[in-house]
Amino acid sequence: MALPTAWSHLVLLLAVLLQLVASAASVPHRHRLPAHRLASLNASAPPTTYFEVDRPIRPPQGSFEGPCSALLLSSSFGATYGKPPVTAAYAPPACLAAARARGGSLALAVLEWSADCRGRQFDRIFGVWISGAELLRSCTAEPRATGIVWSVSRDVTRYAALLAEPGEIAVYLGNLVDSTYTGIYNVNLTLHLYFHAAPPPLTQQADLIVPVSRSLPLNDGQWFAVQNATDLESKKISIPSNTYRAVLEVFVSFHSNDEFWYTNPPNEYIEANNLSSVPGNGAFREVVVKVDQDIVGAVWPFTVIYTGGVNPLLWRPITGIGSFNLPTYDIDITPFLGKLLDGKEHDFGFSVTNALDVWYIDANLHLWLDHKSEKTIGSLISYDVPALVLNVDSGFSGLDGKFVTSASRHISATGWVKSSYGEVTTTFYQTFTYDNSNMYTKNGTVQAVNQTIDAKSGVFVKDTSAVLLSEEVHEVFPLYVYTGTSDQVGDEYSLVSLVKLGINEKRISGGKHGFLYSNLRNAQSARGTMKVKKNLVVSGLGQTHQVYKYVGTDGCYFRDVSSKNYTIISDNFDDSCSKRSPSSGVKFSSNKDQPARKLLKL
Ligand SMILES: *[C@@H]1O[C@H](CO)[C@@H](O)[C@H](O)[C@H]1NC(C)=O
Ligand SMILES: *[C@@H]1O[C@H](CO)[C@@H](O)[C@H](O)[C@H]1NC(C)=O
Ligand SMILES: *[C@@H]1O[C@H](CO)[C@@H](O)[C@H](O)[C@H]1NC(C)=O
Ligand SMILES: *[C@@H]1O[C@H](CO)[C@@H](O)[C@H](O)[C@H]1NC(C)=O
Ligand SMILES: *[C@@H]1O[C@H](CO)[C@@H](O)[C@H](O)[C@H]1NC(C)=O
Ligand SMILES: *[C@@H]1O[C@H](CO)[C@@H](O)[C@H](O)[C@H]1NC(C)=O
Ligand SMILES: *[C@@H]1O[C@H](CO)[C@@H](O)[C@H](O)[C@H]1NC(C)=O
Repeated sequence: MALPTAWSHLVLLLAVLLQLVASAASVPHRHRLPAHRLASLNASAPPTTYFEVDRPIRPPQGSFEGPCSALLLSSSFGATYGKPPVTAAYAPPACLAAARARGGSLALAVLEWSADCRGRQFDRIFGVWISGAELLRSCTAEPRATGIVWSVSRDVTRYAALLAEPGEIAVYLGNLVDSTYTGIYNVNLTLHLYFHAAPPPLTQQADLIVPVSRSLPLNDGQWFAVQNATDLESKKISIPSNTYRAVLEVFVSFHSNDEFWYTNPPNEYIEANNLSSVPGNGAFREVVVKVDQDIVGAVWPFTVIYTGGVNPLLWRPITGIGSFNLPTYDIDITPFLGKLLDGKEHDFGFSVTNALDVWYIDANLHLWLDHKSEKTIGSLISYDVPALVLNVDSGFSGLDGKFVTSASRHISATGWVKSSYGEVTTTFYQTFTYDNSNMYTKNGTVQAVNQTIDAKSGVFVKDTSAVLLSEEVHEVFPLYVYTGTSDQVGDEYSLVSLVKLGINEKRISGGKHGFLYSNLRNAQSARGTMKVKKNLVVSGLGQTHQVYKYVGTDGCYFRDVSSKNYTIISDNFDDSCSKRSPSSGVKFSSNKDQPARKLLKL
């Protein structure tokens, strides 16, 4: 096919660049997702309920009085991009103070985001913060003309210390509305609380949570924006000098040029083919977390695909794993407390290896304090951080080629801390491996990426006589993304896609609290076609199958659900081995475990 130069360049871009329909960026961007046009058929039809498959959150055994629910914020997000977050004063619900006054304690706190939207809109990333500490990182569902509703519930019990104090809620959801992208997100944010009759065990929740995020006022979220491979975003923090345990909980999401980082080819391929606007730097990324000059941990993130990602029709109504409730990552920094207990400020920083614009990262520093002493002391005993091992094997000819990337990393640190509860030694380690194969065929119009991230971490805490806590987490994130572009004419093209992604997670812990175990296997397989014209999906079909299987000492949950063309076509679930019957389940998680006949009304 003989094409004029400008024309062939455009086709080239469509072939390689627009295979993945990007989404969830903070700013309008050339790869931005098409919103969907199919459903403008019957505006009086009922709204579709979108959902992320997850096990329901249930109050623990022995809890009572609940839920006591409080509306935290109610708002509409229209022209909110580049504006200050929506804020509301937070006052601890009266029932919380009342339970504490009676000697009780918080058994469960759930933050519920419930929203509706109608029209056409991009998927938007958003965050919810309380007093600067992030409580939820999420992506909106993409609406349709007949309207959608969805809700997200996150267990926020670990933020008990924050929930007990007055503060400020902030929600940033950068949305833009015009004559094409009409969707306005209407949102209620509600807190649901359950209580125990007895006070909490000493070690359960942190006494203090220090945000490692940007402070208001801002015309943005409170996350840091890491924009390139050399960008280190940091905050100076000083911690109380009677801290005896510290865990950093990291929130991560990736957008724009790095939304599909795991599919990015190396720069050499881009340069050789003059694809100057295709995002590159290869397919490996790692978030590196530093305290002062020391790497204290890393995050090899789960590949969340947002609700407009690859083909938006794949994620309606079953959304991608993690897209409504992005995973967070814990890094135990107790071994480093020795140097942090000097009362001085220390730099907590985040960078991303090979990053392209943009990564939104922040963290909550969970601190446990010695209530019987003003001062704890400690010291690092051993620290081992060999350099990242990263290998890229590239071979390409023109637009076809194969890139095989592998990486591994190990981090471990041991330190002691002496408090009035004794002298304890803490070891924290992380071990990661990564494999990625990225293959372009058919003159660059077909791309197949197969990736596996394997992450192990563990915490061992012992005093002079016994092991107090031993906890290990093993996560495997498999991913396969196939996209084939065809029929490119001008601003139109067709795309077939196949996406498989999953989280396999085993947790085991033992110590004073007893023995806990869980095993999660959560896998999605989605395939679809779409025709895109001027950045809008004009026709297409998506179907998704998900199997979620959780077995743990705290119960179990199983769901096998399939959707096609916006409709649930089969749905089987079982939680009969859980301690509580479904009928005593919590009302806020009703969208997650409702019977199939209800979903079939969609
Ligand atoms: C491959 O694609 C490029 C860019 O679209 C085009 O110039 C070239 O002719 C194509 N080659 C073949 C063999 O189709
Ligand atoms: C629109 O949807 C409503 C509710 O589902 C239905 O009663 C009505 O017949 C539909 N109208 C058309 C024109 O399809
Ligand atoms: C928010 O709450 C109000 C009052 O209960 C209700 O009318 C509205 O439908 C809710 N909106 C959403 C999106 O849940
Ligand atoms: C990387 O990003 C930082 C922060 O935006 C900026 O100051 C710096 O100039 C950038 N570096 C490069 C090489 O682009
Ligand atoms: C890339 O651009 C350079 C300079 O404009 C040109 O010499 C080269 O042939 C181009 N390569 C391809 C693969 O189009
Ligand atoms: C991806 O790679 C893994 C391991 O190499 C392999 O077992 C799996 O079959 C591959 N997946 C696909 C869809 O090719
Ligand atoms: C998808 O469902 C709509 C009705 O909701 C129907 O009009 C359309 O034909 C279906 N598409 C396919 C490919 O089945």
